[in-house]
Amino acid sequence: MMAITATLIAELFAHAARSPSAHNTQPWIPRFAPATTPRSPAEVHVAVDPARTLPVGDPNSQDLHLAMGCWVESFTIAAAEVGIHVGIGSVRGRGPALEIRLVLTALPDRPGASDLWPRFTSADLHHRQVDRGPMRRAEEPFATAFAAAERGLAASGTAPFEGRAPTKGMALVEVPHDLWETNLARATRYSYSHADIFTETLEWLRFDRRASSYAQDGLSADCLQIPRTLAAVAARLNTARLRPWIGALTSAALAPVELIDRLRASVVRRTSRDRRSPAPASTGGSAPLHHLVLVKDSTAPSAGADSLAKQEIELGRNLLRIWLLLDRHGLRVDVHSEIKDCPQTRSAVSDYLLDDHGMHALPVAAFSVGLSTTAVPRSARRPVEPIHS
Ligand SMILES: Cc1cc2nc3c(=O)[nH]c(=O)nc-3n(C[C@H](O)[C@H](O)[C@H](O)COP(=O)(O)O)c2cc1C
Repeated sequence: MMAITATLIAELFAHAARSPSAHNTQPWIPRFAPATTPRSPAEVHVAVDPARTLPVGDPNSQDLHLAMGCWVESFTIAAAEVGIHVGIGSVRGRGPALEIRLVLTALPDRPGASDLWPRFTSADLHHRQVDRGPMRRAEEPFATAFAAAERGLAASGTAPFEGRAPTKGMALVEVPHDLWETNLARATRYSYSHADIFTETLEWLRFDRRASSYAQDGLSADCLQIPRTLAAVAARLNTARLRPWIGALTSAALAPVELIDRLRASVVRRTSRDRRSPAPASTGGSAPLHHLVLVKDSTAPSAGADSLAKQEIELGRNLLRIWLLLDRHGLRVDVHSEIKDCPQTRSAVSDYLLDDHGMHALPVAAFSVGLSTTAVPRSARRPVEPIHS
């Protein structure tokens, strides 16, 4: 049986640190609480660093809860690999006040293969990456991974929706390319045209390679695939003093476009029930990527803020499993949360889910899937603190 020591837990924290988070904020603060008596379990308590949240872009803390769920799942995977079972003891609070208590149990044997999801390892956690560069459509690996993810979600107790009376839960749904393209363009303009959202995003962009933060957190010029010369100019402009000005100027320039988009969105929504065009076979000469949304049932009675946080943590765990599963099939994801953050595009996707799938559902995560065609730069992470027991 594996002894649960501070050294071992520090290793597991290092694996879990490869977890994804919006803007690579890495909001988690894990703490090891060793067993105090021979009969009491060792625990890990995970809190949120409020300075690593996105109060403007993520006002309901949905992305924060998803990221915390991804971390819990990453830690659970790394722990299972060394024969430690991780159970959720409690989830309290929400947003920056969220506290998760994990209970650790050393197993006599390493766990056997699970038929819900592949038995992921720490190698999978380190291999997974978001790709914002050019990707290629892939049919066969996508179809296999998608079917496996659907089985995994169903077996995780989060059954897919059934017809017009959805069961409580979540589902993974493919979105047609034309709907995706239209709404991605609209959602991107929405983010740029809101000065406060744009300014907050700028705070997490890392252009200056000499700054210590470049290798620690945020979205680096490398990861964003921005050419070096452009990154050098951006580094000079993206300072705390200039940021609010850049945000305000960009949003002022885009505000009229946003207004037109809103008008157009309401017209499109009114006529969307008559629109059934299939995805075009190709875009710009190459086949379009597959686009997926992880959706949650929107009919479940509201069960209070704390249990919403619990539900979103569970969604985050499944989101990570889906991304790891795609990675196992050689596929990467390009994430576009703006589609579920922008009210107009969120409801356009919601309308599609109802019209074409009979689901009363809301998107909580949106991403394209494909094969990477160029090397993907590694995202930064903060160093993991040593644990003193
Ligand atoms: C809840 C959540 C939302 C995210 N939203 C976006 C997004 O809108 N755009 C994007 O480019 N990446 C998004 N990401 C991906 C993160 O930026 C990425 O995980 C982080 O930069 C670390 O990079 P890595 O996943 O390649 O290790 C999101 C990740 C999570 C967990």
